[in-house]
Amino acid sequence: MAPRWSRALVTGASSGIGEAFARRLAADGTELVLVARRGARLRALAAGLAPAAVEVVTADLGEPSDLARVEARLADADRPVDLLVNNAGFGTSGPFADLPADREELQVRVNVVAPLRLARAALPGMRERGRGAVVNVASLAAYQPYPYGATYGATKAFLASFSQALHEELRGSGVRVLALCPGFTRTEFQQSAGVGTGPVPDGLWMSADRVAAAGLRALSSGRVLTIPGVVNATAAAVSKVLPAAVTRRVVAVGARRRRAGA
Ligand SMILES: NC(=O)c1ccc[n+]([C@@H]2O[C@H](COP(=O)([O-])OP(=O)(O)OC[C@H]3O[C@@H](n4cnc5c(N)ncnc54)[C@H](OP(=O)(O)O)[C@@H]3O)[C@@H](O)[C@H]2O)c1
Repeated sequence: MAPRWSRALVTGASSGIGEAFARRLAADGTELVLVARRGARLRALAAGLAPAAVEVVTADLGEPSDLARVEARLADADRPVDLLVNNAGFGTSGPFADLPADREELQVRVNVVAPLRLARAALPGMRERGRGAVVNVASLAAYQPYPYGATYGATKAFLASFSQALHEELRGSGVRVLALCPGFTRTEFQQSAGVGTGPVPDGLWMSADRVAAAGLRALSSGRVLTIPGVVNATAAAVSKVLPAAVTRRVVAVGARRRRAGA
């Protein structure tokens, strides 16, 4: 039976998959806490979701003091959050040796350190209340090393592994943890990562709304990991049985072609 969440905190709700989560949750009667850097976008979204109760928290999750504010909000027992969607994230693209080190490090802070700290802030209260969930938005890129997006793939592999470990630790506690692993999704991601959409066929793309819907469905059915879309799920299954030496070469060739078509 589908759990109905009372209050959800969604990071990266100012666009794409996070915004789609916010819209779906609001439509289901869930109160929201929306987090991202672009406060104006969050406020416009909140206004559009009326009469849903929405708090806006403008925060850069790569900044320790902003991250601490969001952690404090999650740990506030007077206004409990029973669903945390760790969705904010970004990618970079190119040969690692040429990419600015500071932005690679920032990627680890936003994609890994922030979800880790936010989960750590939210979980004790959820466990005490015997109810709650954390969704970590990973990626199909978690399934194999990701040449030309080396840091990005590694951050998403972290999230997939971390989520599955937490899921086991929390078994029987009433708290669920899900790794949502989307493939190509039409959002602002590709533009901000500077990745071309080049030769990726139309049929491989999903909408942010379908991805969020798949995530919420998987959460309701207690899954630990889900890959939205049949083609994506097949790609992940194939990549699991092929030797890593093959999959990383295939990904490298695809990335070079996309870069050439950017
Ligand atoms: N699109 C895809 O093909 C795809 C595939 C697999 C996985 N994903 C994952 O899906 C998640 C959502 O991405 P998306 O596709 O929806 O891309 P998007 O449209 O670019 O959204 C990214 C969100 O993350 C937020 N964000 C980025 N840096 C932040 C920071 N320092 N502090 C706070 N918020 C920050 C952005 O908000 P502000 O800019 O307002 O801060 C934005 O709301 C990411 O984790 C991404 O890795 C995407």
